[in-house]
Amino acid sequence: MKTYHVITFGCQMNERDSETIAGMLEELGYSYAEDPGSADAVVLNTCSVRENADNRFFGVLGRLKNSHESRPGMMVCVCGCMMQQQRIIDSIKAKYSWVDLVFGTHNLADFPRLFKNAYEEKKHIIDVLSEAGPIAEGLPSKRAYDFKAYVSIMQGCNNFCSYCIVPYTRGRERSRRPEAIIEEVRELAASGCKEIMVLGQNVNSYGRARSVEGTYNAKTDEPHLDFAGLMRELDKIDGIERIRFMTSHPKDISDELIECFRDPRHICRQIHLPVQSGSSRVLKEMNRVYTREQYLEIVKKLRAVCPDIAISTDIIVGFPGETEEDFRETLSLVEEVRYDSAFTFIYSVRQGTPAAERKDQVPEDVKHERFNRLLDAMHRIQEEKAEKYRDAVLPVLVEGFSKTDDTMLTGHTESGRVVDFPGNPSLIGKMVNVRITRPQTFSLYGALAE
Ligand code: SAH
Ligand code: SF4
Ligand code: F3S
Repeated sequence: MKTYHVITFGCQMNERDSETIAGMLEELGYSYAEDPGSADAVVLNTCSVRENADNRFFGVLGRLKNSHESRPGMMVCVCGCMMQQQRIIDSIKAKYSWVDLVFGTHNLADFPRLFKNAYEEKKHIIDVLSEAGPIAEGLPSKRAYDFKAYVSIMQGCNNFCSYCIVPYTRGRERSRRPEAIIEEVRELAASGCKEIMVLGQNVNSYGRARSVEGTYNAKTDEPHLDFAGLMRELDKIDGIERIRFMTSHPKDISDELIECFRDPRHICRQIHLPVQSGSSRVLKEMNRVYTREQYLEIVKKLRAVCPDIAISTDIIVGFPGETEEDFRETLSLVEEVRYDSAFTFIYSVRQGTPAAERKDQVPEDVKHERFNRLLDAMHRIQEEKAEKYRDAVLPVLVEGFSKTDDTMLTGHTESGRVVDFPGNPSLIGKMVNVRITRPQTFSLYGALAE
C-alpha cells in the first residue's frame, strides 16, 4: 500500500485543511506514514504569517530533495498560504523545480484531481488561483483526534491589518451555512467528540460579509444567525462538553457574544482576544479599528458577565514607528488586563502589506529588547495567576502524553492551561478531575482526584 505524510505549518485553519488533504489521500488509497522521508506522497501545507515560517518551509523542502531523488515515483506537493504569492512561486520554479505539485488555498478541493494528473502523467503542475470561490462542503477528512476537533466556520479575512499577509493569501471572508456547521458538530458529538474549537480569522464577523456569491449572509439568509446565535445553537448540542472559538477580533465583538459567557452550558470560560498593541496610535496605524480604551472596556464587560473568564491575546512588538512610549503602553495594558497567556511576536516585514513599505522600521536590537521585556512581564503575571490553581480540583480533557515527560498524561483545563499528571493511558480521550499540586508558569502539575 502507498503511504503519505502531511507536514503543516501555521495556524489551526491550516491544520484543519491538512485534515482534509489527509482525508483526500486516504480516499486515493494512501495510508499514513510516520516518516516523511519514506512516504510515497508528502504534502507541505505552508504558512507565510512571519518570515521564519517561510524559512522553515524552505529548510524542510530542501531536506526532502534527497529522498525525492532516490525514490522514483515519490510525490512532493506544496500548498497553503505561501503559494498564494508570486515571489514564492518564482523561487520554487527557479530553485525547487523538482517539486511535483504546487497548489494554493483556493483550490484545495481540486487536490485529488491535480495529484492524479501530476502522478499519472509524471508532470510538474503549478495551479494557483488568485480568487476564492464559495466554500466547498462535504470534502473528505481524516481528523487528527477523535475526542477533540476543529470546526472551521468561515474562511478568508476582510480586515487588512496593515502588517498582515492573511487577507492576501486567504482571500475575502466567506461564511459556511449554519446548517452545515450544526450538522458537522452533531456528527462529531455522535462519534464521541468531547471538545470543539470553532475556527475563523475573525469569528465575530461570521455571516456578515457579502463579498462572495453563494456564501452565507446572516441578514438575507435563513436562519438569521450571527456568531453569537450560532454559538448558542452549538451550545445546545448534547455530547460536546467543551466549545472554544478563535479568533475573536475586538472590533466586532458583540454584547450578545459576551452574554454567551453568562452561565454557559458548554462554552468554555475562556477567550482569545488579540490586542496587538496597547497604544491607540499604533493600533490606528495597524488598522485594527479599536482604541486601547475600547479594548479595555470589552475586557471589563467580559469580566462583569463572567468574573473568572481566562483571557489570552496576541501582541506584536516593533511595529514600524513604535516608540518606547508606545511600547510602554503595551506593557501597561498587559499589567492592567493581567492576561492568562499571550502569544508575543516580533514584527516581521511581509512583502505586499502596507506596513512593509514604511521607512520607519524599528531596528532589530530594539525589537528584541522590547520583546524580552514584554516576555518578562507576561511570564511574571502567568506565574502569579498559576498560583491561584494550587490545590484546586479541575476537570481536564486527557489528550495524550506530556510533551516533556512521556510517562505523564497531559490535557487542558477549561481555562486553557496545560495540566500534566500521572495516570493510565486508557484515560486518553476522557474527562477527569485533577488536583493541582504544583502550579508552574507554563504547566500545572497534579494528581487524579476521586
Ligand atoms: N485573525 C487573527 C490573527 C491571525 S495571525 C486576529 O486578527 O487576531 C496570528 C497572529 O500573528 C496575529 O494576531 C498577530 O499577532 C501575528 N502576526 C500577524 N502578522 C504578523 C507580522 N507581520 N509580524 C508579526 N506578527 C504577526
Ligand atoms: Fe490578519 Fe488582521 Fe485578518 Fe487577523 S484580522 S488575519 S491579523 S488581517
Ligand atoms: Fe499562516 Fe495562512 Fe494561517 S499565513 S497563520 S497559515 S492563514
